[in-house]
Amino acid sequence: MTQDNSSQDNAAGQNGGGDLFNTAAGWVLFAAGLGLGLSILSGKFFHGDKPERPEKLGYVIEGAVEEDGGGAAEMSMAEALNKMPAPELVAAGEKLFAKCQSCHTINAGGANGIGPNLHGTMGKALGGHAGFAYSAELKAKGGAWDWDSMNAWLKSPKAYVSGTKMSFAGLGKIEDRAAIAAYINAQGSNLPIPAFTAAAPTDDATAAAEDEAGEMAAEEAGTDPAAAAGE
Ligand code: HEC
Repeated sequence: MTQDNSSQDNAAGQNGGGDLFNTAAGWVLFAAGLGLGLSILSGKFFHGDKPERPEKLGYVIEGAVEEDGGGAAEMSMAEALNKMPAPELVAAGEKLFAKCQSCHTINAGGANGIGPNLHGTMGKALGGHAGFAYSAELKAKGGAWDWDSMNAWLKSPKAYVSGTKMSFAGLGKIEDRAAIAAYINAQGSNLPIPAFTAAAPTDDATAAAEDEAGEMAAEEAGTDPAAAAGE
């Protein structure tokens, strides 16, 4: 009898131990599952592991440099200055000057603002407007404002004069820089606009253009869907 009892006790003890183990294992699994679930969920909402930056910023920074695709070489300043008749170019420049007006006046005798008055700037020494506290860097640069220096300056003031006080990113298009330079030039300077004659197309360029035209014609004929379907 004693043996029976003890065996029953043992069995009961084992069952009890098993229940306890199962319960504990259940909690461990539950906790693990919960943890996993939470980390998946939080991963959906927060990307702590990689800093994110939208592909396109939702706002435009006035005056920020526009990156031009890089590809083709930019036209020369002389060409950009001769793209349209001078009065039209100056008018375009006057419109673009809106980007500068928060800091610059350009009328004769106009007040200095955040930046110096720009009347008669073309042809004048860099940093040469009386009564304006230029950065040491701009004053040290030397030279006079001409078409080329103005082009380089307006493309990226910081690249042209590192340490300049002009916090303006620059104008990405040479057409815009030419127009503004022409407008500034028309306000009290009047430097001559450099001559530009388009180079005659070379034989190579003509041949390439002809090839391209031929290819396009062939493509059009070959890809006509009606012709392909035999309708
Ligand atoms: C946020 C204000 C600001 C804006 C916008 C700005 N500038 Fe300036 N500009 C300055 C300051 C400041 C200086 C003086 C820079 C220095 O001392 O380094 C300056 C200097 C210049 C100079 C040199 C003048 C000289 O006497 O040597 C030119 C030219 C000029 N700016 C043209 C422009 C044009 C054109 C635009 C618009 C496309 C423009 N700036 C937009 C603040 C500005």
